[in-house]
Amino acid sequence: MLPSQHYRQPDAGAVLSALHDINTRHGYLPAAEVRRAASDLAVPLSVMYSAATFYALFSFKPCGKHKLQVCEGTACYVKGAAELLTKLQSELGIQIDETTEDLLFTLKRVRCVGSCGLAPIVRVDDETFGRLTLDDLESVLAKFRNQ
Ligand code: FES
Repeated sequence: MLPSQHYRQPDAGAVLSALHDINTRHGYLPAAEVRRAASDLAVPLSVMYSAATFYALFSFKPCGKHKLQVCEGTACYVKGAAELLTKLQSELGIQIDETTEDLLFTLKRVRCVGSCGLAPIVRVDDETFGRLTLDDLESVLAKFRNQ
């Protein structure tokens, strides 16, 4: 770590690029890697953490192999998103923003993802499952448990 008088004016692009690189390599942001990047870029650690906490894409905890995103936008909420989320929490034994012990699933809630006509929806990685019922969830989970 450099003394504060040796810090440069933060280059937002370089900071985000470094964070993205760390996140891609590890699937999250290990503290030691963030400290090293701050030192390499000669920016205060607070700049790194400020950028990292602003973007939902970054996580400070290891994430699961598959990211489950339950949409809680208005259309999905009206059509039962809360019940889907409750059932997923129960099935997986985790809360929102947590990861299963086997590191297979991380559960997230998101705002409208633009597929309101398919409400309620759950996204798993890049795949969207629409018009879901509580009974559909097990088959969705099973598909990704076997990948
Ligand atoms: S509210 Fe869920 S996709 Fe729009």
